[in-house]
Amino acid sequence: MKKKFGGLIVVTGVLALSIAACQMTGQRKASGPAVPSWSESMRGLGESVRELVPFIYIRDGFADQAHHKKVRNAIQRLAKEAEEMHPELGEAYLGKDPILSLAVGRMNSDLERALDAFETGLYEYSRSTMKSVMNTCFACHTATERGGAVGWKWEDVKIAGLRPLERADLMVAMRDFDGAASYLRHLLNDPQFIQTRPFDFETALRKYLALMVRVKKQPDEALNEINKVLEREGVPFFLQQQAEGWRRSLERWSREIARGPSRVPPLTQAEERLRQARQIQRYARDHAGDVEYLRATQILHDFVTSRPSASNLAQAFYALGQAYEALDNVGFWNLHETYYEACVRTLPKSDVARSCFNRLQASIFMGYSGSGGIMVPASERQRLQELSELIHQ
Ligand code: HEC
Repeated sequence: MKKKFGGLIVVTGVLALSIAACQMTGQRKASGPAVPSWSESMRGLGESVRELVPFIYIRDGFADQAHHKKVRNAIQRLAKEAEEMHPELGEAYLGKDPILSLAVGRMNSDLERALDAFETGLYEYSRSTMKSVMNTCFACHTATERGGAVGWKWEDVKIAGLRPLERADLMVAMRDFDGAASYLRHLLNDPQFIQTRPFDFETALRKYLALMVRVKKQPDEALNEINKVLEREGVPFFLQQQAEGWRRSLERWSREIARGPSRVPPLTQAEERLRQARQIQRYARDHAGDVEYLRATQILHDFVTSRPSASNLAQAFYALGQAYEALDNVGFWNLHETYYEACVRTLPKSDVARSCFNRLQASIFMGYSGSGGIMVPASERQRLQELSELIHQ
């Protein structure tokens, strides 16, 4: 049985509007304290993370009493910064995307738990929760290439013992996309890496694809790496098969780019990608269609920033839900359910809302099914009940 995380934080339109007024600059509101702009919040997060990084990734460093106060203060500051964030301000970069409130909500609850655990001496638990915070940075930053990068150089941070994938994650968390892409390429071409860490090799390849497809949008470069992987000896058979699927998708994309900009509406383009993905997949958990799903999310995240009508927005959320459900490890915990729920809330009296509801219900039931049957907690049943009323009332 999978443990589940609570529902979506609903942002009221009134709050969103009043905050939009001081969106870019972080000016003072008519009353109350200054609202930090999204960029300011991000820079704050970046600074705190920079301080914490040498400890998060080293087991003994994190628990070392000599650094206790420093680590505690940095987690506390990060928690406070996350608490003061206004997800609506991120709409300037991501549009009305529910990933904003989900990610900010998750960072808040993770940081609260990490701090509690640290204070009660549960250092390993605290440290792993901090790593999950870093994952949230990764998931959101690879959703869009919009926006600035970190102000400090990677070389400034000296960390002995950092695992290769952790280093790549950290670079993405800091939005050093070029650095991360070239580091991942270096790993993929290192014969030692695949031999000593075959599972990490697969993850590195996926992360690289996510970066190249969603952020860099460079199919030819990605194709180059995939071809090398396919020629390589010692690549597990299942991975070769997936890579064949990725190659087909990347080649198709490259041909499309050569033909010039598409006039097909973005939603239709995304739906075509989902259709192609399903054709490439041979079984339910096959990741061979991932490049198509990644492209779909990239098209859709862009589309969501273009202020589409409610009906188009609900369609986009439905498609995003399906893509993230298939990608499972690229987004984060239950991201797809958040999109299905947002779809219902955006246009409850519609066919698409009913499709989203059905998908959400199936996903929740599947998450809670185990050997003893299906046991859905009251909070989730209530969530479904509320959404069902929105549709039928
Ligand atoms: C909900 C999505 C989201 C999450 C979660 C998120 N970020 Fe960001 N971040 C963004 C966006 C969008 C930008 C681009 C905006 C900009 O340029 O300021 C950004 C920009 C940044 C920047 C560059 C800021 C600048 O302009 O100089 C840093 C540094 C950063 N994020 C660090 C982090 C760290 C560290 C975390 C995790 C603890 C994190 N972010 C979590 C969306 C997110």
